[in-house]
Amino acid sequence: MADPLQLLSQRFAEAFAALAGSAVDPAVRPSEHADAQVNGALSVAKALSRPPRDVANDVLGRLGDVSDMCETVEVAGPGFVNVVFAADFLNDQLRIALSDERLGVQAAPTSETVVVDFSAPNVAKEMHVGHLRSTVIGDALVRMHEFVGNRVIRENHIGDWGTPFGMLIEHLLDLGEARATEEFSVGDLDGFYKEARKKFEADDIFKERSRMRVVALQAGEEETLRMWRVLVAESTKYFNRIYRQLDVLLTDDDLMGESTYNDLLPVVVERLRSGGHLRQSDGADVMFLNGFTNRENEPLPLIIRKGDGGYNYATTDLACVIDRVERLGVDRMWYVVGAPQAQHLQMVEAATRAAGWLPATVEMRHVAFGNVLGSDRKMLKSRSGESVKLSALLDEAVERARAAVREKNPDLEAAAQDEIARMVGIGAVKYADLSTDRVKDYIFDWDRMLSFDGNTAPYLQYAHARICSIFRRADVARDSLAATLPSISAKEERTLVLGLLQFDSAVRDTIDKASPHRLCTYLYEVATAFTGFYENCPVLKSAEPVRSSRLVLCDATARVLRTGLGLLGIDAPEAM
Ligand code: ARG
Repeated sequence: MADPLQLLSQRFAEAFAALAGSAVDPAVRPSEHADAQVNGALSVAKALSRPPRDVANDVLGRLGDVSDMCETVEVAGPGFVNVVFAADFLNDQLRIALSDERLGVQAAPTSETVVVDFSAPNVAKEMHVGHLRSTVIGDALVRMHEFVGNRVIRENHIGDWGTPFGMLIEHLLDLGEARATEEFSVGDLDGFYKEARKKFEADDIFKERSRMRVVALQAGEEETLRMWRVLVAESTKYFNRIYRQLDVLLTDDDLMGESTYNDLLPVVVERLRSGGHLRQSDGADVMFLNGFTNRENEPLPLIIRKGDGGYNYATTDLACVIDRVERLGVDRMWYVVGAPQAQHLQMVEAATRAAGWLPATVEMRHVAFGNVLGSDRKMLKSRSGESVKLSALLDEAVERARAAVREKNPDLEAAAQDEIARMVGIGAVKYADLSTDRVKDYIFDWDRMLSFDGNTAPYLQYAHARICSIFRRADVARDSLAATLPSISAKEERTLVLGLLQFDSAVRDTIDKASPHRLCTYLYEVATAFTGFYENCPVLKSAEPVRSSRLVLCDATARVLRTGLGLLGIDAPEAM
């Protein structure tokens, strides 16, 4: 473990436990007055009805020798303990972190198998900004789990089955495959879907054809299946274009659409029936689960099989749990799905726990997220009021970034400009999404996300590029510093190093809470600490050995920023 605050917390935890007779959180926090403040005495004092300063002094008495890590340890105020770390200790911790590829971030204690269910757009329908959020958040969480050594299985649960496919296939037939393929290739999936829907509602013959087509599809009739595959293939081609534009890890190998679970659906019903979990309600097979009621406070049924024999979205998710637990042997299942599906996922969890398919040791977690809003605080829409075309949105991000990059650095050659504009534009869109608490809505604001100031991708990318340029100017190769020991003295150096050493805690906290914005906040703090350092501590103008020590801090900062951005799925250019 690299984080000095955590190491300090461990030492204090023992002293507190000895005093209180039970485990106590020492409540170690960063402080304005010292490197760290230990607040645990306050709550212990309350519980024991003793004066807090007495308790604090008592704790220090039991602490043992901490001179290896602390320069001063003092009781202050109403009963905090202020701690200043020893410079040698910080130097040493930084040296250890830098010799590690993961920069001090610990591996997970045991490598777990984690399914991340994310992106999940629907075939023959436009991917909307909600799918963009799921894709970006899911991709970041995948990268973090992999970084700490977990085995990650990405599953893209695309909506590729169900009754709408009857009408979609009939519309495909009417239009001709060539025309349909063309509409899909220009990303007009919504147009296709809407035309099909319009005919379905206006034309009884079309409606009947659609019904018969669903029957044929479910019966596995060959020509129908072939046309269904055309729709799926054209749609996934379109999704893949967005994934490549976004630079996320998803590929066709990760497709686990709803249709994948077809064979398991009768098994779900059979198992539930023999377990005595099914009830009849209006001709449908349903489950009633404790704690779920509708607005009238009546028990809310989870529909497993409809009266006409058709299965539901929920049934597929139940099958999915069976597959993930029994075939994949998961430890955790993370569903990166919009907040409106909270109840659906809660019912799926309750049903599978009740049926005994989801052991208590397996985590099922809804990684929920809010909406993307326009400047009018309503759901983000294009100017014409249609849903936003993601591909065009991402192109616009790159275009806008190109203008910003050109302004900042007009001398860059065109090819470099293109590449940097891509990294900055896509990075800005992703970071704007990831840096706000995911459960909240956020406002999509071009100027803010592309600003070089504030908690944005361009700010962090620029901080990284600036450090790379220091090395270019100094004509020093970064890896030549491997043997140089840092030696900090100035206040800003200490603040920066303390920040860098918290990378471990930041990553693990982000994974624990499944909240990428925590890592963003951390990286922003590191970049800010670097600015403070760089403005107050000359690097290249200093004499040795200070110069090399400061170059080590520059290198360490660049590595943390680059690795951290990488965990968010964002590139860090070396020049901007
Ligand atoms: N396709 C769904 C939608 O667009 C999301 C699926 C989420 N995953 C799941 N296992 N239900 O809303």
